[in-house]
Amino acid sequence: MVKFDFFTYTEDFITKEELADLLDKKSSIIDKFNNSNMIGWIRKPSNDVVEKIINISNQIKTSSKVLVVVGVGGSYLGSLAYHNIFESYFNDKSFEVIYAGYSLSSTYLSELQEYLKDKDFSINVISKSGSTLEVKLTYQVLRELLEKKYSKEEARRRIYITTSKNSPLYLDISDNNLLEIPSDIGGRFSFITPAHLLVLSLNYDITKIIDYYFKGLNLVSDAYTYAVVRNLMYTKGFVVENFSIYEEKLSFFTEWLKQLFAESEGKDNKGILPISTINTRDLHSLGQFIQDGKKILFETHIKIDNSTSLNINDRDLHDINNIVEDAVIKAHSRGNVPSIIIELDKLSEENISSLICFFQLAAAFSAYLFDVNPFDQPGVEVYKEEANKNL
Ligand code: PA5
Repeated sequence: MVKFDFFTYTEDFITKEELADLLDKKSSIIDKFNNSNMIGWIRKPSNDVVEKIINISNQIKTSSKVLVVVGVGGSYLGSLAYHNIFESYFNDKSFEVIYAGYSLSSTYLSELQEYLKDKDFSINVISKSGSTLEVKLTYQVLRELLEKKYSKEEARRRIYITTSKNSPLYLDISDNNLLEIPSDIGGRFSFITPAHLLVLSLNYDITKIIDYYFKGLNLVSDAYTYAVVRNLMYTKGFVVENFSIYEEKLSFFTEWLKQLFAESEGKDNKGILPISTINTRDLHSLGQFIQDGKKILFETHIKIDNSTSLNINDRDLHDINNIVEDAVIKAHSRGNVPSIIIELDKLSEENISSLICFFQLAAAFSAYLFDVNPFDQPGVEVYKEEANKNL
């Protein structure tokens, strides 16, 4: 169960008229959303696609001890966020998923080559465009490693490509090893496509994840209200949103959120800058600025009611964590830092999957409230042009 408190710690900053004005725009914003040709992510993947994903996942588990996922941005953060939440902090893994292709670190890639030398591994290259530099180079290095380690044919069998029909990678692989990202779904909205479902199917029942995700569509009204309150915070000068968590397992979930909101609404000289804090750690760092520094920031707290119980001095450690979180929200409110609270009864697959859908809806509505296109990212191209001059 997910509960939202949009108003307790924001209402002092907004007038009833301002709120009513934006809430009145709901049907026109939802019309714009429904008229977009990039909302394939509100449509369930077909049974054939799910079956193919599960077959490939079984092949990978039979042949390999490691899957290297090669992708960047929206092509890797969703599954990484999910894994980090539901994987134990400490475990001896019998099957390992390693992420690569999200940087150009030669140290990372050469240490990865060394690590993989004696291990049976497969790779899943995930790129909607098929032309992303980091992904192309990492793919080349790992393909060469596979070819050195196995025969050329066996190497080909160990390469799985998830891409779109227009990508140069589409024709580069046999149909058996190919999964398609639908053209009407962009990278950061692709959680419910093979881009993430193949990786997730190695450890989770993806039919359940799909059902849970679509429960998020029942949260359309809450997603719109969230978008409205964020927008009002922005108009009051709170141009930074801090996603605040008290469970480190959510740290890549906040990376996913940052990418989702920054790329969806940060354009045309508008948008809210998303940042994140992992608490209580960051109370001893960014906490000072948030409480006492320039008032440019509001917070969205992701709160978890129930967690692993651990008794200390006759108290439960998670209760102490929650008491501190509530105290911080109040203290920040005293320092004129508004807060929105998203409260989960527990860190469950159902809650997280439906929240992913909720946040995607909110990011799209929010971008439309800013009057920008949620589904492009023209700003990302500028550095590429500069880099290409010298590559
Ligand atoms: O959300 C997006 O569209 C981007 O972050 C992309 O996912 C990212 O740039 C990777 O692109 P591609 O999947 O084409 O390699």
